[in-house]
Amino acid sequence: MLDSDQVLTAVADEPDVDRQLRPHRLGEFVGQEQVKEQLEILVQASRIRSEPVEHVLLCGPPGLGKTTLANIVAAERGVNLRVTSGPAIEFQGALASLLTSLGDGDILFIDEVHRLQRAVEESLYPAMEEFAFDFVSGKGAGAQTIRLALQRFTVIGATTREGMLSAPLRDRFGAIFRLDFYQHHELRQIVDRSARLLAVDAEDAALDLISTRSRGTPRVANRLLRRVRDYSQVRGDGAVTVRMTQEALDLLKVDEIGLVESDRRLLRLVCQQFRGGPVGLSTLGAALSEEPQTIEEVIEPYLLQLGMLKRTPRGRMATEGAYRHLRLEVPQELAGSPSEEQGPLFANES
Ligand SMILES: Nc1ncnc2c1ncn2[C@@H]1O[C@H](COP(=O)(O)OP(=O)(O)O)[C@@H](O)[C@H]1O
Ligand SMILES: [Mg+2]
Repeated sequence: MLDSDQVLTAVADEPDVDRQLRPHRLGEFVGQEQVKEQLEILVQASRIRSEPVEHVLLCGPPGLGKTTLANIVAAERGVNLRVTSGPAIEFQGALASLLTSLGDGDILFIDEVHRLQRAVEESLYPAMEEFAFDFVSGKGAGAQTIRLALQRFTVIGATTREGMLSAPLRDRFGAIFRLDFYQHHELRQIVDRSARLLAVDAEDAALDLISTRSRGTPRVANRLLRRVRDYSQVRGDGAVTVRMTQEALDLLKVDEIGLVESDRRLLRLVCQQFRGGPVGLSTLGAALSEEPQTIEEVIEPYLLQLGMLKRTPRGRMATEGAYRHLRLEVPQELAGSPSEEQGPLFANES
């Protein structure tokens, strides 16, 4: 079984299950209504004009559906999708061979697009703007640029760190969409659908519990569902009941609002060791033995969303909500401050 932290940080789901649960068409994709509507218009407009879809940038924390949406755009437009990622394109030649392999209207999906090398990124600019790739041959004064024409294509970039994208790269995307954490009723729909696809025999209330505990994140919801299914098959008769779900979640140390051990360790550290902060990201990383990048991209976004943590220019600070959740005494200076600290997702609970 996964440990508590892996519920959160395992980067992707197991590939075959992932394929089985991933929605293939816009109509199956739950939530993110505004993004869906705009993508639909982009796809239709491109079809009407017989042009490639405009370059699209998808931003947001891991597990919210960026890769899924890129695949859906390709399916809706009826074109091929090639998948790569920023760090995987090591030099310009590698980018050139990717680009020349694309057919007319095809999509190049670049995951972690904020991690492109500078030189690679710069040769992507003319490719995105003019469908051309500039090779430089020779060195110094005798250097010549040879321009290679490409098929018209679309870049869909995905990033967990919009702020790390350079302005010139960002400007070359015709549409930028930000994915939000999902509402409870949306996650509930996703878990229902996944339970059906996996042929899991589950009580409604059990599925409800799973969606409440999944940090607003479809990937976490699907993962919890599978772990609860395992537990029910091993410790019970296979039926996913509320009792089985409760026990499995306890074993995984997923608490009543979906936080896992790494979340609680971070909050405890800020509240107790650093007296509420502010504390810098690198200090937190060192104290938790976590990569600052993991803290920033994977752990923190949901705590910020819940209003338990605040980002300030001097570092991270815990809010009253964090102390209350950890059942720690709320410091005087925080007590009684307006309860915007309570995240909107769980405002009507407890
Ligand atoms: N809106 C959604 N509706 C249904 N399932 C979703 C949705 N968004 C994501 N998923 C599921 O969650 C998993 C993670 O999504 P993914 O697109 O890989 O996220 P990201 O690329 O943003 O990290 C997918 O396998 C998919 O099954
Ligand atoms: Mg992805």
